[in-house]
Amino acid sequence: MKISMRGAAAFAAVSAIALAGCSSDRGDDTEPTTSSTAGAAGSEVCIEEGAAIGVALPQKTSENWVLAEQLFNDGLTEAGFEPIVQFGNSGVTEQQNQISAMLEQDAQVIVVGAIDGSQLGSQLEAAHEAGAPVIAYDRLVLNTDAVDAYIAFDNFRVGELQGEALLQGLAERKGEGPYNIELIAGSSDDANSTPFFEGAMSILQPKIDDGTLTVVSGQTTFEQAATAGWQAQNAQSRMDTIMSGSYSGDTELHGILSPNDTLARAALTSVDQAGKDTPVITGQDSEVESVTSIVAGEQYSTIYKDTRQLVAQTIASIEELAACGEIPVNDTEQYDNGVKVVPAFLLDPQIVTQENAAEVYADDATLGPLTEG
Ligand code: BGC
Repeated sequence: MKISMRGAAAFAAVSAIALAGCSSDRGDDTEPTTSSTAGAAGSEVCIEEGAAIGVALPQKTSENWVLAEQLFNDGLTEAGFEPIVQFGNSGVTEQQNQISAMLEQDAQVIVVGAIDGSQLGSQLEAAHEAGAPVIAYDRLVLNTDAVDAYIAFDNFRVGELQGEALLQGLAERKGEGPYNIELIAGSSDDANSTPFFEGAMSILQPKIDDGTLTVVSGQTTFEQAATAGWQAQNAQSRMDTIMSGSYSGDTELHGILSPNDTLARAALTSVDQAGKDTPVITGQDSEVESVTSIVAGEQYSTIYKDTRQLVAQTIASIEELAACGEIPVNDTEQYDNGVKVVPAFLLDPQIVTQENAAEVYADDATLGPLTEG
């Protein structure tokens, strides 16, 4: 599987995808839904007023997923739909079964945040056979053409911002280089983890090559850096091994690339237990504990991906389908899922450090107050 990525997303041209071949009469046995390219004219999908909408979320591996559950329930209800929102807490099989059950309950759209992006092909094909469009939410689904749109924050850009923040933090807090760093990546079954890592490495690799940065453990590949299931204990135990193997004696660890806040806090615990100074560390998700830590000058950065915006964009797309319209997209190049380039609506992630936290979170009732006083 190869996901093709390019650095800059084309936010300028917002177009729409047509879901051709899908009849507005849901009773007949129509052709499977297929999406055509952005800007194509004429949608044939008209979901019914009050339709059931299936939202299959992964495990609660970060706060954004928990918030999404509530926002989907409230927002879909308010928009006049009947939400069926479920977490696949026990893994891939549970998520597969949940999607099948949603279709049995006549869900007319399937929104999916995949646990394993490559394991949902037959369930999503069944959705298309039933005439239900499929929207990949936050995480891409792979190796199937049974996906009509991808709605997410620009994952490659998230990684670039993390790489840039790490360099900036090192220069601010650790004096002149060269610097010793370590790399952490997300779970290899989540399609987001590769673009996060590749985006960051597009910034860091040149600095490794010119000797500014040294990965002391030598673990520089995605496979070596990956964290199974996005689980904090897996990142922590890998860091424990790295600390005892590569940072005994006086060797200092100046910085860590972490793909999200949960793993950043786990890595900081490991470094602290090894008796070393707090390294510059990146994150993502703007989790409450990490924002508090950033304000206190510990964790260096996080990323703000406003879940309210992502859910609102997804619900607006469903409302378009209910009006027999088309799902708006603004990128038709970046997200090749192995079978097709999935038309995407990409939102812009924001980097957050101690310096801009108050400004970025000003409109967020939960996070804004954490930056005061
Ligand atoms: C999301 C991240 C999150 C991670 C673990 C990813 O797919 O994009 O925001 O940190 O999953 O939950």
